[in-house]
Amino acid sequence: MTEENNTSSNDTPDMATDQPIEDRVNNRSQRPSSDAFKEFMAGQWAPADTTLPPEDAVAPFAAKRRLGLSQRFPGERLVIPAGPLKVRSNDTDYRFRPHSGFAHMTGLGLDHEPDAVLVFDPVEEGTGDDGGNHRATLYFRPMAGRDTEEFYSNSRSGEFWIGQRPTLPELRARLGIPTAHMDEALEDAITRGAGNTALGGVRIRLLRDVDLNCDALVDTSRINTGVDLEESDKLDAELPEALSELRLVKDEWEIEQMRAAVDATMNGFHDVARALPRAVEHKRGERVVEGAFFSRAREEGNDLGYDTIAASGNNATVLHWMRNSGQVNSGDLILVDAGVEADSLYTADITRTMPVNGKYTEIQRKIYQAIVDAQDAAFAVAKPGTTFRDLHTAAITVLAERLDAWGLLPVPLEEALADTGQQHRRWMPHGTSHHLGLDVHDCAQARRDMYLDGILEPGMVFTIEPGLYFKAEDLAVPEEYRGIGVRLEDDVLVTEDGCVNLSAELPRTPDEIEAWMARVQAG
Ligand code: GLY
Ligand code: MN
Ligand code: MN
Repeated sequence: MTEENNTSSNDTPDMATDQPIEDRVNNRSQRPSSDAFKEFMAGQWAPADTTLPPEDAVAPFAAKRRLGLSQRFPGERLVIPAGPLKVRSNDTDYRFRPHSGFAHMTGLGLDHEPDAVLVFDPVEEGTGDDGGNHRATLYFRPMAGRDTEEFYSNSRSGEFWIGQRPTLPELRARLGIPTAHMDEALEDAITRGAGNTALGGVRIRLLRDVDLNCDALVDTSRINTGVDLEESDKLDAELPEALSELRLVKDEWEIEQMRAAVDATMNGFHDVARALPRAVEHKRGERVVEGAFFSRAREEGNDLGYDTIAASGNNATVLHWMRNSGQVNSGDLILVDAGVEADSLYTADITRTMPVNGKYTEIQRKIYQAIVDAQDAAFAVAKPGTTFRDLHTAAITVLAERLDAWGLLPVPLEEALADTGQQHRRWMPHGTSHHLGLDVHDCAQARRDMYLDGILEPGMVFTIEPGLYFKAEDLAVPEEYRGIGVRLEDDVLVTEDGCVNLSAELPRTPDEIEAWMARVQAG
């Protein structure tokens, strides 16, 4: 199916060579353009239900988040776009997902709302929403009436094509944010009174590179009012930084979402364990594993939080193996790194490395146990007051010690552990932890002193994911190690006096995994 223009193909033969390229997508079919058709299409539809929905549970939490942002930028206009639909190819779009900063500030999850823009308009300090410094308004394209041409002719926003979407009053009721039609009011809302602050203009801060239309609107306004573009770029960059930092500590509602995402992901791993016998029989067994997890992601959540890594044998030593085109062979390990994204767009990020035939070999078990011990060392320091950096130090020290005990380090342990050494990182070149939330690598624009050097606080959620990767081509290790990659990844919530492993119910140690696989595969 494709959206059609209203030009009958019968009246275009002479235009064949003059027809603009962008119109030719309509050449394969036609929609009637007669007035009679339009008139008939405009009538005899049941009226839309105008009952207002209740407020979303997230609304009061999102209001608090907006207050946090408002307090950081008094007197400035903040422009936070959701972003447009993204073209996959030609006239086919990806499923819509808003920018995570927009989702956090509004509480809007799946499907909401392409092209929408949240604008914080500055007011006198302390007189704005919830005593803040701004009034926020959500600009979006509401569902068109059934008597409009958009209803049946617009394949990207028409109800006939994509189903019902919210109206202005509906979204206002759900979110507690005033709403306005973007086509009628957005340009004015962004540019009104904007300009050089020295001359009494309002400074705009834009979340750039999310929506080209917003970028163009703001840039044009800046040029027209003599605002320095380079300086503005620097000021703009503080907005994604603030949006990232406001997400470092999750609120109660977000923690609930994280638990839901983790629970669905653990269910996906049970499906993976069940699918392994079939994967062994298939010439692209890794795809069988990927597919088993994906079904669960769509059934219980919105989607995957990131592309699944289903990596068997030596593929497990490729850190971002997402081709998943390999065979799954008995006697090998399979590393599966996968996360379900909930409808609220919060994602889990879990890894298990399983023996394909249900039993670890001696060397596989030895390596796996080192990873378990490294993860335990990181769990032990995951509590308020520890720096984020300490998580990595705790885990990597255990791995370095183990590599030393196995005789694999080319230098004494102390020399490897020194900043000037670090030879052990050959086998674990990635970090041990990252924040987790709306993005799998959440809060990525936070400043270093808030992230790596930041102090853990209750409400933070992050991964602990040590691994060791001995490539088949790695001549620095004895042959028995080669072609083995192991990672173990769990999702952790910091509490008042320690942490909870949100994914603790998923078997983790070698014995637990063997028992689990036997259980699951026995049906
Ligand atoms: N799945 C990506 C990561 O573990 O960071
Ligand atoms: Mn991770
Ligand atoms: Mn992962």
